[in-house]
Amino acid sequence: MSSIFITASGTEVGKTLLACLIITQLRRRGIPVRALKPVVTGFDSSDAMGSDPALLLDALGLPLDKAHLDRLSPWRFRAPLSPDMAAAREQRAIPFTELVSFCGASTGLGMTVIEGIGGVMVPIDAEHTVRDWIAALGSAAVLVTGSYLGAISHTLTALTALKSMQIAVRAIVVSESADQPAPASETARTIQRFADCTPVCVLPRLTDIENAPDILGMLGLGDESFST
Ligand SMILES: Nc1ncnc2c1ncn2[C@@H]1O[C@H](COP(=O)(O)OP(=O)(O)OP(=O)(O)O)[C@@H](O)[C@H]1O
Ligand SMILES: [Mg+2]
Repeated sequence: MSSIFITASGTEVGKTLLACLIITQLRRRGIPVRALKPVVTGFDSSDAMGSDPALLLDALGLPLDKAHLDRLSPWRFRAPLSPDMAAAREQRAIPFTELVSFCGASTGLGMTVIEGIGGVMVPIDAEHTVRDWIAALGSAAVLVTGSYLGAISHTLTALTALKSMQIAVRAIVVSESADQPAPASETARTIQRFADCTPVCVLPRLTDIENAPDILGMLGLGDESFST
């Protein structure tokens, strides 16, 4: 089974949007897809609509109930902080080995789309970051960024951090920011000059998920990547 780990230059850049587009387009092709957002912070169970788990379940065509939430996002925390800090507020901790085996458990079919949390170097516990999590899974990553001011340096720093642990970065996706100092295509070209052979693509500002470009094609997630 294939898996893809969606990480980012930072928070609020478009990881969930990209994950939902991948899920929607895989489902349209009839490819079985499982999605995980294993760790979520800032989660209010009494007001879950619009949260990452809710958006991902909707893309999967699944109801937002406790059973599905537990399968998608077993580690949910109330405080809108990094996972280690949010867990500590609840006298809890995220067991790293359990987190890795949860994500690695195979369903035998199709594709698993894993949304990380925040950016590449966000702490999961006192010893591990998102980067360690991706490396332990041996999964390929997609690095999402924006076209906001500062995105170029954030992106290249994140890319360097991933490559230093031999993590395969399948693509960098510049998801057009609402507030951008230059066209996203120009930011993407600049990133590409420093990203060696990692492909850089632009996800334009969308008003409707239905009008999204062919994300699977953009990421090279062709049919041959899947066993169905
Ligand atoms: N290309 C785009 N077109 C339209 N809206 C976008 C685009 N990229 C990001 N957004 C919007 O920006 C907001 C943040 O995006 P999203 O929730 O996908 O980010 P994230 O990286 O998953 O954030 P978090 O770190 O909180 O998980 C959302 O409202 C999303 O719809
Ligand atoms: Mg998200």
